[in-house]
Amino acid sequence: MGTRFIFFSGKGGVGKTSMACTTAVQYADKGCRTLIVTTDPAANLSDVFEQQIGHRVTKINGMENLDAMEIDPDAATTEYKERALAPMRDLFDDELVKIAEEQLSGPCTEEMASFDKFIDFMQQDEYDIVVFDTAPTGHTIRLLELPVDWSRHIEESAKGSGQTCMGPVALIQDSKKKYDQAVNMLRNREQTQFIFVMQPEQTSLDETARSAKELQRLGITTDRIIINGLIPEAEAVNAFFRQRLQMQKGYVSKAQEIFAGTPMKEMPLFDTELKGIDMFRQVGKVLFEGSDGDE
Ligand SMILES: Nc1ncnc2c1ncn2[C@@H]1O[C@H](COP(=O)(O)OP(=O)(O)OP(=O)(O)O)[C@@H](O)[C@H]1O
Ligand SMILES: [Mg+2]
Repeated sequence: MGTRFIFFSGKGGVGKTSMACTTAVQYADKGCRTLIVTTDPAANLSDVFEQQIGHRVTKINGMENLDAMEIDPDAATTEYKERALAPMRDLFDDELVKIAEEQLSGPCTEEMASFDKFIDFMQQDEYDIVVFDTAPTGHTIRLLELPVDWSRHIEESAKGSGQTCMGPVALIQDSKKKYDQAVNMLRNREQTQFIFVMQPEQTSLDETARSAKELQRLGITTDRIIINGLIPEAEAVNAFFRQRLQMQKGYVSKAQEIFAGTPMKEMPLFDTELKGIDMFRQVGKVLFEGSDGDE
């Protein structure tokens, strides 16, 4: 079986990075060659793994099989342009290359560049598992919509003006195939899993429901929902926490109604923040409880 991709999505601050790291550590411990990539421009994998990471694949200290990378949109843009222009440099003079470079600097070059980097990880065979820790939902849906939009846009522009928001059709036509392939991979449930993380609260539930619908519109099915941050029953010993737990349980029930049929996991609130490999292993015991981690 080829590489499998696991995407973590959800509203800001709900626990995406924590659950993505827990999952990555679990798979790496099982012996899978694992990469965790964040597409969040405000990446914090460096903080939670307590080591410098940045825009390059970096081995996680103390782990056998785990690498990480934080995609930096600026660095990705430079690499993308360089890659597109390199074949031209041998064939054309500087003046022409400069014009092409300007044409490549369209309003969505940066988005395209980040996506290009992202596709690189979908096309490698170095890893068994690639975990994507994504930016808060809106940004991620946009990222996933892009190849669908682009593909259509390139097709239409080829018939019409020949100009797209990422540059002239002639320069990017080859990319269409790549985007179509990426979309097919995203839609293939054998290969790609989409996991939403949410808190048992109204805003988080609403946003998850909305986003799951948007993904469905792109032909992508939600595979799993993690409801994170439930107050442990044993701690609900006074009126304040009992009431809060009651509220949380209400949203768990609503989520079960809305997402009937989608596997759901409840994660308790821990008494510390979640960082460091040891902590992720501890959280993993709960997250993968009752499974061999291979769902
Ligand atoms: N179950 C939990 N128990 C205790 N603390 C938690 C739990 N889940 C997450 N946290 C803490 O909550 C904070 C936010 O979590 P995390 O960074 O994983 O969320 P995120 O969805 O990635 O946020 P962002 O949208 O900012 O990237 C972190 O400090 C994390 O340690
Ligand atoms: Mg995060």
